Amino acid sequence: AIVSAEKFVAAARENGYAIGGFNTNNLEWTQAILRAAEAKQAPILIQTSMGAGKYMGGYKTAKYIIENLVESMNITVPIAIHLDHGHFEDAKEVIEIGYTSLMFDGSHLPIAENLEKTKEIVALAHAKGISVEAEVGSIGGEEDGIIGEGELAPIEDAVEMVKTGIDFLAAGIGNIHGPYPANWKGLHLDHLQKLTDAVPGFPIVLHGGSGIPDDQIKAAIKMGVAKVNVNTESQQAFAAATRKFAAEYEANEAEYDKKKLFDPRKFLKPGIDAVQAAVEERIDVFGSANKA
Ligand code: G3H
Ligand code: ZN
Repeated sequence: AIVSAEKFVAAARENGYAIGGFNTNNLEWTQAILRAAEAKQAPILIQTSMGAGKYMGGYKTAKYIIENLVESMNITVPIAIHLDHGHFEDAKEVIEIGYTSLMFDGSHLPIAENLEKTKEIVALAHAKGISVEAEVGSIGGEEDGIIGEGELAPIEDAVEMVKTGIDFLAAGIGNIHGPYPANWKGLHLDHLQKLTDAVPGFPIVLHGGSGIPDDQIKAAIKMGVAKVNVNTESQQAFAAATRKFAAEYEANEAEYDKKKLFDPRKFLKPGIDAVQAAVEERIDVFGSANKA
């Protein structure tokens, strides 16, 4: 069923697990992510970045693909259709179109402006029952053109941001989008603890979920992270399986041609199955299996 995300994220916060926010790119990824959620009986957010929204033919197309698949695949677990790292105009657009959840990312703005714009989005979104995520501090690295400095979230900014009425809060705690560099120092769990002490019980979102050692993710969940975003890990799983299959194809060309494995429905299958497996594995680590 398609729902907004505030209830299942709050339940995760209360009960000490986290919901996966999984980025999709196209029809097949959406199927893989939905299959994983259903297999694990896990609520999830399926999310498009602004770039992925464009790639999929616009937010409206993305929304219909997700919505129609949830119906045709008989998906019974709660699914939120979420905009990831949205600019102000994009956030307003998905509210119009009927996403059920969104992130307004004003982390590049001066805090006063970030707070003010977030408040506007909260009013518009909540009027339609849409859940809202906002960000303080910033996530390091780059995702689909969104570049962050990796600034630790100031505690007072987090407190003010929660007062805007948002449903969950993304905070920079040393996390980075994309692969982590070899010299990465790990999550600033001490900072996360200060943050959650300042906003007791409030659900925190961990971005840059790919490549963080599982023990650090679990420690962060214990402290109050209730949503973990994963994008790169699915992409890497897809690329690795596709490369492996392509190499096998190269080595057995005549046989694979005869089996018509050049058909995209077959050629893409190993990669897509790898995305599903990666998502299922993350759901287990986050503890949200059988929480639907
Ligand atoms: O907003 C999306 C996530 O923060 C993705 O981060 O690509 O490092 O998994 P990731
Ligand atoms: Zn992110």
